[in-house]
Amino acid sequence: MRITVVIGTRPEIIKMSPIIRYCEEQGLDYSLVHTGQHYSYEMDAMFFDELELPQPEYKLNVGSGTHAEQTGKIMVGLERILLRDRSDVVLVQGDTNTVLGSALSAAKLNVEVGHVEAGLRSWDRTMPEEVNRLLTDHIARYLFAPTETAETNLLREGIDGKKIWVTGNTVVDAVFQNIKIAQQRSDIHHDLGLEPGQYFLLTAHRQENVDDRERLERLIGAMRDLYTAYNLPIVFPAHPRTLKRLDEFGLSVPEGLRILDPQGYLEFLLLEQSARAILTDSGGIQEEACILHVPCITLRENTERPETLDVGANVLAGTEPHRILNAVSAMLSREASWANPFGDGQSGRKTVEILLDSR
Ligand code: UD1
Ligand code: UDP
Repeated sequence: MRITVVIGTRPEIIKMSPIIRYCEEQGLDYSLVHTGQHYSYEMDAMFFDELELPQPEYKLNVGSGTHAEQTGKIMVGLERILLRDRSDVVLVQGDTNTVLGSALSAAKLNVEVGHVEAGLRSWDRTMPEEVNRLLTDHIARYLFAPTETAETNLLREGIDGKKIWVTGNTVVDAVFQNIKIAQQRSDIHHDLGLEPGQYFLLTAHRQENVDDRERLERLIGAMRDLYTAYNLPIVFPAHPRTLKRLDEFGLSVPEGLRILDPQGYLEFLLLEQSARAILTDSGGIQEEACILHVPCITLRENTERPETLDVGANVLAGTEPHRILNAVSAMLSREASWANPFGDGQSGRKTVEILLDSR
């Protein structure tokens, strides 16, 4: 079986890395395609260097653009590759435009699609990611659901149970494979002059949060209040989309908020592990906080990761300052002893073995 693994953005590189490593270790017949949705060094190449991943065989270089431009370019680029390079299954991960564009291209050529992290639902179709995962799930032949909750979502939508496997989430593999390496190789707290446990970690990049001036301003205002309340620095490795908007809207940075460039995975894992709490609108970071037993406050009104709420690792806080402060206070009073609902760190191996066994 020939597997085409497609990646395009930071979280896909990280969450596909256990699958790529397993394919390499086993000497499998696979190829790696990078759509180029993310391309800045600190959103792309840095992760190949740190995680010691092989260079992609194909690069589509689609870059940034509107949703239609990006998705369309990905479709055309991957179609060209699939027409000349035989593939039995195209493996995609998550909910980005890379995922939908690649899945559509493959499905139209009758190449089977495998969806890693299938079945997640925020039930909010105004999110571009919800549209991407919903459509991808319905054209995939192999659905790798991270949890039983995700499997139930798929079954309720009428997807044949024979196409679904509950494998855990490859993010657990990525955390387990890299946390010790991070501790050996990185000295990020020293480099940034931070004391472990004595800072909050913030990320925000969702289109609906940062492209809206009022919401972004409110969020930044909430960080001013958080600093006043706790007198702890708020470390903010900012996504390029967010940096661009902060600049465009001319928002000033309050005392206590430390804006940094996006960090490498090893550095970021350590920043997560020793944060007093994590405030984020990221999907992957909600999961990692839960796995690392660090309290998480999600700066959204919904989440496609309800398992983190159910085990008590996460709380939804939106962007209103008083709600965020209440949520921080509530999370800091909880004991961080919850169970990890995302599997045992063998998800990458299981996913590839299911594909190989299906032939
Ligand atoms: C995309 C995904 C989102 C995911 C996120 C991970 C979609 C619809 N969105 O959002 O689900 O959570 O990736 O980080 O697929 N930019 C750079 N350098 C880069 C990449 C982007 O400067 O390497 C800037 C550009 O100004 C670009 C903007 O960031 O216009 C947004 O990039 P884009 O890939 O469209 O969406 P993300 O916000 O990264
Ligand atoms: N991440 C990183 N450096 C950073 C911020 C995030 O390595 O400065 C990692 C983080 O550990 C997680 C992933 O990027 O594995 C999450 O990506 P992002 O928040 O961009 O996307 P999402 O998960 O929301 O799709």
